[in-house]
Amino acid sequence: MIEELLKIKEELLGDIKKLTNLKELNEVRIKAFGKAGAISNLSKGMRDVAPEDRPKFGALINIARSEIERELELKNKEFEEAELNKRLQEEKVDITEPSKACEIGALHPISDVIDRLTDICVDMGFSVVEGPEIESDYYNFEAMNIPKNHPSRDMQDTFFITDEILLRSQTSAVQAREMEKRKPPFKIVCPGKTYRNDSDATHSPIFNQLEGLVVDENISMADLKSMLTILMKRLYGEDTKIRFRPSFFPFTEPSIEVDVSCPNCHGKGCNICKGSGMLELLGAGVVNPKVLEMSGIDSKKYRGFAFGFGLDRTAMILNSIGNIRSLYRNDKRFLEQMR
Ligand code: PHE
Repeated sequence: MIEELLKIKEELLGDIKKLTNLKELNEVRIKAFGKAGAISNLSKGMRDVAPEDRPKFGALINIARSEIERELELKNKEFEEAELNKRLQEEKVDITEPSKACEIGALHPISDVIDRLTDICVDMGFSVVEGPEIESDYYNFEAMNIPKNHPSRDMQDTFFITDEILLRSQTSAVQAREMEKRKPPFKIVCPGKTYRNDSDATHSPIFNQLEGLVVDENISMADLKSMLTILMKRLYGEDTKIRFRPSFFPFTEPSIEVDVSCPNCHGKGCNICKGSGMLELLGAGVVNPKVLEMSGIDSKKYRGFAFGFGLDRTAMILNSIGNIRSLYRNDKRFLEQMR
């Protein structure tokens, strides 16, 4: 029996020496200590040993068991360390390696112009408000002193949804909504999309306007002119020249149109200003007292001025864009140039 025990022990220790991985190690562990393992079988064989030899035999089994366990443990450690080193090698991060280039986006030219203009206006104390793009005939036209069937409606070729509902043709619709809600004095600007049945290189059926409105006591044309002069100089540069021309809008009286010297050629004449040196930029005027009254504002006490910008034109001038369609095509190659 003792010989057999020593033989089994040597065999197992020999197996352990030859181990190359954790899987094999577990197999040897089972071969030795599993239910039907060699060491377990030896313990079971104890009853065949003469009673006086049992203590000695038992002690030898214990020695063999702990020796094998120790060797297995050493191998186990060895394998675990090797595994860890392998992972550390494989998962090494080279922090000096250059990173992948990521694409940086840019603001759409219209968003950029809205940001620039509203920033300037907010500096001057204006609040920014928005209104619905699907609008009622009342707010878009009637409250702006443009009655049904009046010829002045022809100025804006409008998309009607029903007789009373339309796609707003001007952000002026927001003026009426805000005048109903607010108590003077107030100063608001409203940027947003507008729609007209118009389409060529400089007109698109969808376009953007920014409307401004100031209502207070003692407002005059002088306030409007000085405010627009500051606005234009801050947008296009201090050396910009401004020209005011008489015009007509049903909701302002008197009405003006405002031109600025071309920021590209500074008034000399180029293809952007079509040789004239000046660019037509916006409509404006002193709010017609009738419009104030319709929205519940006392026109004896208060007066107002309003102005309306075409944002597409402004974006085209600032970025030298030739065709308004570029703004709405969503062509990535065009948008990438805005970075
Ligand atoms: N709403 C006018 C337009 O779209 C512009 C404008 C606004 C004119 C405010 C005067 C005052 O043509």
